[in-house]
Amino acid sequence: MYTLTNWADTTHPDHGLLRAGVELSHREAEAFHGHPDFSEPFEGIFAEACRGEYYDRDFVVLRDDAPDGEVRGFLQVLYPLSDNTHLGFVWSEAQGRDTDLTVALLAEAERLAAARGRTSIMEWTDHREAADGEPVLDAATGAGRINPTDSLAAAYLACGWELEQTERHSILPLPVDQEMLDRFAAQSRAVAHPAYELVSWVDRTPDELLAGHARLNQAMSTDVPHGELDMEETVHTPERVRYNEDTLAAANKGYLAVAARHCESGEIVGFTRVDYPHVWPEAVFQAATLVLDGHRGHRLGMWMKADLLTRLRELRPDARRLHTWNASENDHMLSINVALGFEVRTVVAAWQKKLTPIHT
Ligand SMILES: CC(C)(COP(=O)(O)OP(=O)(O)OC[C@H]1O[C@@H](n2cnc3c(N)ncnc32)[C@H](O)[C@@H]1OP(=O)(O)O)[C@@H](O)C(=O)NCCC(=O)NCCS
Repeated sequence: MYTLTNWADTTHPDHGLLRAGVELSHREAEAFHGHPDFSEPFEGIFAEACRGEYYDRDFVVLRDDAPDGEVRGFLQVLYPLSDNTHLGFVWSEAQGRDTDLTVALLAEAERLAAARGRTSIMEWTDHREAADGEPVLDAATGAGRINPTDSLAAAYLACGWELEQTERHSILPLPVDQEMLDRFAAQSRAVAHPAYELVSWVDRTPDELLAGHARLNQAMSTDVPHGELDMEETVHTPERVRYNEDTLAAANKGYLAVAARHCESGEIVGFTRVDYPHVWPEAVFQAATLVLDGHRGHRLGMWMKADLLTRLRELRPDARRLHTWNASENDHMLSINVALGFEVRTVVAAWQKKLTPIHT
């Protein structure tokens, strides 16, 4: 187990080990998912990691005990700095989803997070849906289940983590039938218009919408179902919106957003956003969708998404897969996505462990 204290120094051997760890995670993700969409180039991950205003990080590699020992495990623990300062978000990758390697990585994550005074750690891991006749473990929310004997699940359970929630990872094959999108857009618009209208932008929020964009991001942190995950409101400001946009650009990614404006107040009250890597035209990732409380039930969710998918066709003509993650109990969001044609791929387990902080 080796903590990469010099990972940001590109001339130091730690930097090479960071790259090796990220490459291990790419191999594992591709083997599990059967496509390279989660193999974000190292340069992008590194550029993002170097922007440390809102998050600090620990990186660790687990390698064979030899001078050039093979890297068999990789760990990042991400620490929010401006809110949720009790949390550590864990990203662990063990070669072959091995139980013992995962146990070692989780123990290290726990030690590092506790040393920083963090009291809850959480991680999201990919699983196949439990097949008929297999043992099942239900999430604490009661929605979604996994097979607890799966090699990864076994590691989390052995380390005392709780399965708090599951998410459904789904893919929408692109491009989507345009007639269907036009029909959904027209049906939703008939309900929402003229009280609401749509606006859209790419990569940079228009100045006059910045405060509204920050408010919508903040609402994402409270209004999306989180079960008993120990998350508090994330504070978003116009400056943080710009910071996040600059971080995406630094990681060589773009984004498309469609928002719903309430015509009477002039405020944007809902948005949907997708991100995409410039270097890999086939993949697009749903980053957010929300309608503010008080404006729900007017079909804005479907209207914004149908409009975004129509714009995406022109903006990313080679896109083939739109990925999304939805809490298994989020019926309203899931019903919109199912209607649009999203297909379930994996169950994502949201694990949590409460810690006793070590004050050094
Ligand atoms: C998911 C979401 C975007 C749907 O937006 P929407 O524009 O309100 O969607 P719709 O108008 O199609 O309404 C969806 C359902 O909510 C119901 N609804 C009506 N008024 C509502 C209100 N005040 N609050 C909540 N739901 C309401 C509607 O009746 C409808 O139910 P039905 O399908 O049984 O008729 C919205 O519920 C939301 O922002 N949720 C919180 C954020 C979230 O979970 N985002 C997804 C993250 S993955």
